[in-house]
Amino acid sequence: MNAPFKPGSQGGRDQFAAYLCDEASIDVLRPVAIELGWQPEKCNKGGLRNAVQSLSITASPNILMVDLSESGDPLNDINGLAEVCEPGTIVVAVGQVNDVRLYRDLIASGIHDYLLKPLSSGQLRDALQQAQAVFAAPKEQASGGGKTHITTAVIGTRGGVGGSTIASSLAWLFSKDARLPTALLDLDIHFGTGALSLDLEPGRGLTDAIENPSRIDGLFIERAMIRANDNLAILSAEAPINSPLLTDGAAFVQLEEEFRQAFEMTVIDLPRNMLINFPQLLGNVNVVVLVTELTLASARDTIRLLSWLRANAPQTHVLVTLNKLQASLAEISKADFEASIETTIDVTIPFDLKAASNAAKLGQTFAEANRSTRAAAALREIAAKVQGSSEDEAAISASSKSSLLGKFDLKSLMPRKGKAKNANAAVQAAE
Ligand SMILES: Nc1ncnc2c1ncn2[C@@H]1O[C@H](COP(=O)(O)OP(=O)(O)OP(=O)(O)O)[C@@H](O)[C@H]1O
Ligand SMILES: [Mg+2]
Repeated sequence: MNAPFKPGSQGGRDQFAAYLCDEASIDVLRPVAIELGWQPEKCNKGGLRNAVQSLSITASPNILMVDLSESGDPLNDINGLAEVCEPGTIVVAVGQVNDVRLYRDLIASGIHDYLLKPLSSGQLRDALQQAQAVFAAPKEQASGGGKTHITTAVIGTRGGVGGSTIASSLAWLFSKDARLPTALLDLDIHFGTGALSLDLEPGRGLTDAIENPSRIDGLFIERAMIRANDNLAILSAEAPINSPLLTDGAAFVQLEEEFRQAFEMTVIDLPRNMLINFPQLLGNVNVVVLVTELTLASARDTIRLLSWLRANAPQTHVLVTLNKLQASLAEISKADFEASIETTIDVTIPFDLKAASNAAKLGQTFAEANRSTRAAAALREIAAKVQGSSEDEAAISASSKSSLLGKFDLKSLMPRKGKAKNANAAVQAAE
């Protein structure tokens, strides 16, 4: 089940609750529930409607058993249940209709299992033990088999800091090193270099998407994206300089949604002006790679962007990335920079002119063309941090599955929140 997360309720979740229409079924269930360590009084008399009523005012249990026998339109009613049921709840349905189509539809709508009445102890025990196992497993399985997707937005705090270099390199690393199906969305509509850095023509895909957002679906994505390698596809444009960008941003949000279905990683090259015009773009982004350089202007804008992200996209995990480091030429020292932004720099990429020109000459991303350089190692470090975010999630208990925020080391996020508040204060003080 996949209803919106109800804050504060997961702490008080019961392990199990059942709503069964007839006494005979409850009598079979009760001893099995006791055997599994659950409270017998959680076996309630009632059907799906009672479950929906009750769950709309209380936290959902980890495992929920509902009887569909009195439901005229089980599929529709299950959708009603999804609206009140918290993410991660494993739902086992019970009914008396022996129809494989209904079974399939129920499974497709996120139901874990469907048991036919009359119930037997053995059948109940097996189904509930399996539900327990699924609940205890990492979230990927617990939420109904949906695969994990990470959307990463790369945002440069200043022009030319290397946002696009990092975005294309990350996309390449995800697709080649990690072999994850990856989409690269270059939202620098007029001046983007995503396709160029992969030695590709941008095509018309993104332009078509902007002009006809309603056409965006799985098939459109397949046709419109340019394939860079077996696991990497790119959507970009080289819009004529005399044609201004005319869009309300709906196409971009729709693309993000389609990418979530079709790929495992999305990398968005997100120019800062796009973030101002279309803040909704950040609504479902999991990781922001905020690219900085050691200049006063970059420090100021890092503070402002961190503050903005904190206020407008609090679910994002921010990786502050310092690019083009040349300590001897820095306007301000790294220590002063970190003090002013009130957080530490997560990854530092050295300035490497040779590597940049090598990538351009080879028509490859910076990371691909210069594998043995320190700069490429730093790029791999960012990729690992982004990917590690999803592995960390498995270690976080299944009960803390509030959002993709759970993918990250929550402890490491907490001081950052405080710091972001300070950054906020610093920005306000500066205004
Ligand atoms: N670590 C680095 N060392 C040397 N050159 C670099 C490094 N990173 C990026 N560059 C070079 O800096 C230039 C600008 O990079 P890039 O286009 O990625 O920046 P950007 O932030 O996307 O710029 P824009 O503001 O135009 O979008 C490119 O020529 C790129 O090759
Ligand atoms: Mg760029």
